[in-house]
Amino acid sequence: MAGLVSRRVRRRRLRVAAGIVAAVTTAHDPTPALPVFADVDTGVDDAMALVYLLASTDADVVGIASTGGNVDVDQVCRNNLGLLQLCGATDIPVSRGADQPLSAAMRTAEDTHGPAGLGYAELPRHDREPTSYDSAEAWVRAAHAHPGELIGLVTGPLTNLALALRAEPTLPSLLRRLVIMGGSFDYRGNTTPVAEWNISVDPESAAEVFAAWGAAWGEQDPDHLPIVLGLNVTENVAMTPAILARLAAAAGTPTPEMSVTDTRGTRSPATNPLIGTLEDAMRFYFEFHHDQGEGYLAHLHDPLAAAAALDPGLVRTRATTVDVELVGALTRGMTVADWSGHWGRRPNALIGTETDPTVFFDRFIDRVGRYARRF
Ligand code: RIB
Ligand code: CA
Repeated sequence: MAGLVSRRVRRRRLRVAAGIVAAVTTAHDPTPALPVFADVDTGVDDAMALVYLLASTDADVVGIASTGGNVDVDQVCRNNLGLLQLCGATDIPVSRGADQPLSAAMRTAEDTHGPAGLGYAELPRHDREPTSYDSAEAWVRAAHAHPGELIGLVTGPLTNLALALRAEPTLPSLLRRLVIMGGSFDYRGNTTPVAEWNISVDPESAAEVFAAWGAAWGEQDPDHLPIVLGLNVTENVAMTPAILARLAAAAGTPTPEMSVTDTRGTRSPATNPLIGTLEDAMRFYFEFHHDQGEGYLAHLHDPLAAAAALDPGLVRTRATTVDVELVGALTRGMTVADWSGHWGRRPNALIGTETDPTVFFDRFIDRVGRYARRF
């Protein structure tokens, strides 16, 4: 009981602290926009994360890297370009990443995110092309353009970040912050019994990324270690039909609360194109989680990572050494945290351990709801 009480007290303190920060930020001039580079495998929750960044006045999205994962890399490019077209953010460059993981065969997850990766949503047509340079080069260019200031966010497999590190080994010292949605720590997997999707698709790239930050640690303080949000913390952030209805209301276009009894594939009645797109995407994601026995809900892994990229205070973290199992017949792709220091290696990550979903959703709805009123 004592543990439960202290956890409740800690959550209340997190909420109070976040509320004070939000109040102060709102009351005074907002902090200058932070340059953000997002590497995504746009699927449903990646799209929600990108919309959150576009809706955030403290974020300046300077580039988007497309990584194959939820759907193949070309479909990820189309989703990113189509979403930016919908949001009128067509000045943001979108790059195309590698065709394959570093050494694994490409796998995709259309069962989870839909045949095109955005559930039932259909994005507007666009005439834009990805950049002439690839995503690894895009990482390096963005880091050199914003030395020491760029915030990196990865919500897909780490293939292109690993390739960027091979091209520019000083990348860890060029980034102000790196947030990775990936892994699962002292918690089950979602792709195998122990592996989480983003790591499972390309375990070798994840291992190279964690090793690179471990090697760089001597040149920077622990705050520059990557914040790694695994399923153990992101599955605390579950979108529900009631919360989604709050978003539509905040956008000024209230819609009926979705239900598991609705006919599958029912399209959103929202007159607001952004809310309609998000609702059509989320319905497919709700149906998938329901079919998995997790309830008519949807874990917002990537939006939590995006929110933490702008405000690390949203998550509690603990520094440790992380590595990735590469050869285990049953455990390949598993992220292993050496909490007790058995390996005697430098810490290379700040592992997310706790978040307050209420604080996250209040901020998500406030920002995206306000942003959607423009459409
Ligand atoms: O395991 C969850 C992660 O895998 C999320 O980033 C989701 O979009 C998929 O990429
Ligand atoms: Ca993702």
